[in-house]
Amino acid sequence: MWKNLKVCVTGGASFIGSHLVEALVHRGAKVFVADNLSSGKLAYLQPLIDQGLIKFSDCDLRWGKNCFTAVRHRDVVFHLAADHGGRGYVDLHQAACATNLGLDSAVFRACLKSHGPGKIVFASSGCVYPNYLQTDPKKELYLTEDMVGPPYDSDGMYGYAKLMAEKTLQAFHQDHKLKSASCRIFTVIGPRMKEDHAICAMIARAFIRQAPFEIWGSGNQIRNWTYVSDVVRGLLLAAEKIEHGTAVNIGTMERTTVLEAAAQVCTLLGHATGIYARPDMPTGPLNRVADNRLAQQLLGWVPEVPFSDGLRKTIEWYVQTHTRDGVAGRLERALTER
Ligand SMILES: NC(=O)c1ccc[n+]([C@@H]2O[C@H](COP(=O)([O-])OP(=O)(O)OC[C@H]3O[C@@H](n4cnc5c(N)ncnc54)[C@H](O)[C@@H]3O)[C@@H](O)[C@H]2O)c1
Repeated sequence: MWKNLKVCVTGGASFIGSHLVEALVHRGAKVFVADNLSSGKLAYLQPLIDQGLIKFSDCDLRWGKNCFTAVRHRDVVFHLAADHGGRGYVDLHQAACATNLGLDSAVFRACLKSHGPGKIVFASSGCVYPNYLQTDPKKELYLTEDMVGPPYDSDGMYGYAKLMAEKTLQAFHQDHKLKSASCRIFTVIGPRMKEDHAICAMIARAFIRQAPFEIWGSGNQIRNWTYVSDVVRGLLLAAEKIEHGTAVNIGTMERTTVLEAAAQVCTLLGHATGIYARPDMPTGPLNRVADNRLAQQLLGWVPEVPFSDGLRKTIEWYVQTHTRDGVAGRLERALTER
């Protein structure tokens, strides 16, 4: 389906976006990336740009004119551009996350006004799920798509903006027949991830031999970490198979506590030390794990990379591409900034 298709990836210089761009190029798509490089890195795309395999525009998509240029005449638009970061960022930068309301609106409006593209795939998030459901780590809870509904209680401005974007796309489909899909991505790991996300923060701390080794929250909070290649496959399948604005979870059903993850990280990096819990730091919901049965049913998507394998690959990449001094010098700031 992808050969010679004209595809735009907004936020394509990001961690997930750059892997998606590579997968699209591999499938023969003609890719245009629009990214203002506020957190993305041009270096991830430079080899593809140098080989003439993609076109790149350094532009701010909060401006309608830039959006129009990016989405016009495309068959598919993957909308990943966002003011986004890990737990420390989304909790402590509410106003910045609120700008996503304007950004998403500008991109979707341009899609509508340019009489295309054929389809929009939106990178939504597990943060749309109501906080009140996710307070008890003792519950064997799996979040199903229909749990997002009144009374909405999304995860801060970041979660509300993702929810509003999903709702906008559903309304655009209903009123204007604009085809779309929203992928509710659960926390992603893999090469190119940054230290503002918990797993990368743990890897960085073990790498610089932090002692005692800090984790945020009590450590009993439960998550499902999903490997980036699985997320990319989910986004591609959503483009191929969904068109009515349906939102679908892209996340594993592996339940792992932060303490368990920290122990695995320390073991893999040979860092034997005590773990020091920081319940005073941004923690997020206590029990957030996807139910991915809808993705199986609609997309035939099942995650292929178990957490332990994904973690090992992420650590291998991190160790090869970072230095201890470099990480130690910037880690404190990197934990809460983009
Ligand atoms: N990483 C995760 O665990 C996760 C989980 C759920 C959803 N998501 C979503 O996936 C997408 C990609 O996230 P990521 O973690 O790969 O990295 P990211 O947050 O760095 O990606 C955002 C990208 O958008 C670009 N951008 C931001 N504002 C822009 C603007 N105004 N104009 C143009 N470009 C702009 C940034 O430079 C960056 O490349 C985001 O939409 C994010 O909300 C990520």
